[in-house]
Amino acid sequence: MCSDVSEQKNVCLDQILADRRSYRMFTAAIPEEDHIRRILHAGLLAPYAAAAVGGSKDYFRRFFVMKRGSQSLNASIPLVMEQVNVMAQGLQKEMETNPALRKKAVMFVQRLEMFRKAGRVPGVGNAPYFIVVAERKGFPPVELQSLAHSLENMWLKATALELGFQLVSITSQMSGNAEFCKILGIPTGEWELMGCAIGFPADELSPSIRPPVEYVTRWLE
Ligand SMILES: Cc1cc2nc3c(=O)[nH]c(=O)nc-3n(C[C@H](O)[C@H](O)[C@H](O)COP(=O)(O)O)c2cc1C
Repeated sequence: MCSDVSEQKNVCLDQILADRRSYRMFTAAIPEEDHIRRILHAGLLAPYAAAAVGGSKDYFRRFFVMKRGSQSLNASIPLVMEQVNVMAQGLQKEMETNPALRKKAVMFVQRLEMFRKAGRVPGVGNAPYFIVVAERKGFPPVELQSLAHSLENMWLKATALELGFQLVSITSQMSGNAEFCKILGIPTGEWELMGCAIGFPADELSPSIRPPVEYVTRWLE
């Protein structure tokens, strides 16, 4: 039987899970640094692949906070854009000779094209904060999975603080970019990266809509 406290915890958690949405437009207001710290702490509490990175003496998860208008963010914006161009060109070329990829990647290529036309990547420079999370590469290579856990914790905490959060997955493409890694102050290629934008949402989104659990679940004998 659930106690009242347990019931309350579940009501709050269910509400946060349902309210978590991708916000892609932000107001000019800057969230409090304390709120950003609390979000980073939530990211730090996320699980990590102990067997893959546990032996490393240096702590294996790092956060890099870039504020809109900062030197670091201004220097990163063109580097990320350049990476979009490189990816788009590489994909276009591969798709010419690979029809299966052409079919699969069509939406992604359109999205990259949208970024190229707009001259910017959503989340990098248009939100008060662009935050990069880094996870040291280990063996087996599961750092992207670890990062996903960390980012999800941060997302839920941002939701609880009534802040808007956008995943910026192009950030993972920057892990081998020497200039970008120099801005972060990490050696190139040793860390996997993921990023997000955080600010006050400029729009209001309804809670998530998903299919009923039974529709997507098979209870196997
Ligand atoms: C692996 C992964 C990468 C994503 N990358 C981006 C991204 O780069 N930019 C973005 O705006 N949303 C990104 N999203 C968010 C999804 O588009 C979003 O979660 C989905 O459309 C459902 O909407 P919701 O988050 O509002 O429930 C990503 C989500 C996942 C799981």
